[in-house]
Amino acid sequence: MRAKDIRKMAGEGPIPMVTAYDAPTAAIAEAAGIDLLLVGDSVGNLRHGHDSTLPVTVDEMASHTASVVRGADEAFVVADMPFLSYGADTDEAIEHCGQMVKEAGADAVKLESGSHTVELTDRLTDIGVPVQAHLGLTPQRENETGLFRQGTNTEAAREILDLAHKHQRAGAFSLVLEHVPANVARQVTDDLDIPTIGIGAGPDCDGQVLTVDEIIGLSEGVAPFSKSFGDVRGEMRDALESYREAVEDGDFPAEEHSHYEDDVDDFY
Ligand code: KIV
Repeated sequence: MRAKDIRKMAGEGPIPMVTAYDAPTAAIAEAAGIDLLLVGDSVGNLRHGHDSTLPVTVDEMASHTASVVRGADEAFVVADMPFLSYGADTDEAIEHCGQMVKEAGADAVKLESGSHTVELTDRLTDIGVPVQAHLGLTPQRENETGLFRQGTNTEAAREILDLAHKHQRAGAFSLVLEHVPANVARQVTDDLDIPTIGIGAGPDCDGQVLTVDEIIGLSEGVAPFSKSFGDVRGEMRDALESYREAVEDGDFPAEEHSHYEDDVDDFY
């Protein structure tokens, strides 16, 4: 799959997308029939124990992206560009985005977007780096905006629509819409030719994305607009408890987990 194929998916039926941070998750997501993987900077909160996505570095994202790419066969892998890796200096931003594609093997990058990313999106797509835009709640701006719903009045909703058009014109192949009212997301989706992928943006986007940790029930809780479809946290705890008990009770390792050598003299 290429960015040009995803571009054509607008209006074609709901597209499932999921975050992945490592090779096994990528392989399992693909086996579950999910072909769009986002290596989100949410890895910062969900896997690195940070309070926000802000501390995540380019090298960390490149490492997670490379792992996902190794685990995926056919899936389209989007690398999220971390805070301050773009937006200040264009050449530096291109170098960082290039690292994701050239070194880590991503198919595209995602930029938390605003007026500062329109030109960059244009530049990147021009030189062959597909860009997924991201509007609405953009967690990298949490010190500026907080982690609140966006587009909740006419002016703010119009700004999202305007920026969505600007990024489409700049060449973005799709647009993530996070935590915006469903009616705003619907309008943006109807207006654009590229697919919108919603998270907390209602049912009318062209696709949906959630973090894998929330979907499988690995994270401690879920955002109000998210949903757990499993209880991996519970299953993991049960397995670890069983292992601890087996070790403490002397049941593990059993005979079948051990091997002996007759040729070793003077040892039991
Ligand atoms: O980092 C992330 O996981 C994201 C989304 C969930 C859209 O940006």
